[in-house]
Amino acid sequence: MPLTIVRNDITKMDCDAIVNAANNSLLGGGGVDGAIHRAAGPELLAECRTLGGCDTGRAKITKGYRLAAKYVIHTVGPIWQGGGHGERELLASCYRESLRLAAENGCKTVAFPLISAGVYGYPRAEALRVAMDTCSDFLMEHDMMIYIVVFDRGSLLVSEKLFADIRRFVDDNYVSEHTDKDRKLRARLFGSFAAKSESMEGAAMAAPMAAHSNMAETVCEEAALPDGLAEAMARMDESFSQMLLRKIDEKGLTDAQCYKKANIDRKLFSKIRSDVNYKPKKITVIAFAAALELTIDETRDMLMKAGFALSHSSKFDIIIEYFISHGRYDIIEINEVLFEFDQPLIGG
Ligand code: APR
Repeated sequence: MPLTIVRNDITKMDCDAIVNAANNSLLGGGGVDGAIHRAAGPELLAECRTLGGCDTGRAKITKGYRLAAKYVIHTVGPIWQGGGHGERELLASCYRESLRLAAENGCKTVAFPLISAGVYGYPRAEALRVAMDTCSDFLMEHDMMIYIVVFDRGSLLVSEKLFADIRRFVDDNYVSEHTDKDRKLRARLFGSFAAKSESMEGAAMAAPMAAHSNMAETVCEEAALPDGLAEAMARMDESFSQMLLRKIDEKGLTDAQCYKKANIDRKLFSKIRSDVNYKPKKITVIAFAAALELTIDETRDMLMKAGFALSHSSKFDIIIEYFISHGRYDIIEINEVLFEFDQPLIGG
């Protein structure tokens, strides 16, 4: 997954470079700046003294000294003044300039804190969005692993409205649909047995009886297949990999456009393309479904070909269903929400 969000202390990240949210003097401070200088040791400050400071939106590189990281890239974010003083462009420039320096120094893995989102007061959700958008643009043209490191459980990392909408969607579907579906399924599978029983015991008693008679098959046959499943089963011979490549062609995308948009690294895509029976992870299938902007039925079909389904007993699945069924395919936004709900991110 070329771009991911992790909860950690950036000084613990074992990457080629970690980025410091510094100030113009580059002579240390609090927050991330203080943590990095403490972990790197006094040699870092000694080298910083030779750099002559750094303008806001620019970046400078030093060694990592006692840190696991080989380099520290020092960048100076904008101080938030309400959003009307070019803060967004300056913040985006911090990420762009840091990534340029990382690439020039051969870094394959880079970790960023949420620059300006602490002392400098940049609203966290917007700061994360600038970070993800700028890094995602960079990854369209470069191969690198980028971590956005979130340190504390401060204010929301997504808009209040989106968070509330999803919270409601999860609560509704997770509870009601989950029990309703079970009840409907039990009624269909055990037919009159379950309907006659006064209690769960009666239904439980009915289960062995149904299981030992051909009633089970008959009742099962009567149980109508969920929408779309019959048609999808008719295409059971098509593998996940074949469906993926067919959909890329149908959408008029190149392979690279698709896997970059899906937050999938090139090597993984090559494996999928070269193995018709490749079995991907669920997070990979969903990332492709979002990148290809599939409908919820097409998404279910693609998942089934990889051996998965969307279940209402999983918050992750319900959040995915929210985005796909609402036609919201922005993988960055989906991952920000998944991260906020402590769920695995999509990509691969
Ligand atoms: N690892 C990862 N993230 C961290 C860590 C850490 N060890 N410590 C703090 N953070 C997070 C904060 O929670 C915040 O979300 O990093 C983000 C940036 O916060 P600051 O460090 O306050 O940086 P910034 O808002 O850019 O302000 C820069 O603060 O420390 C001084 O010298 C620095 O003057 C400069 C100013």
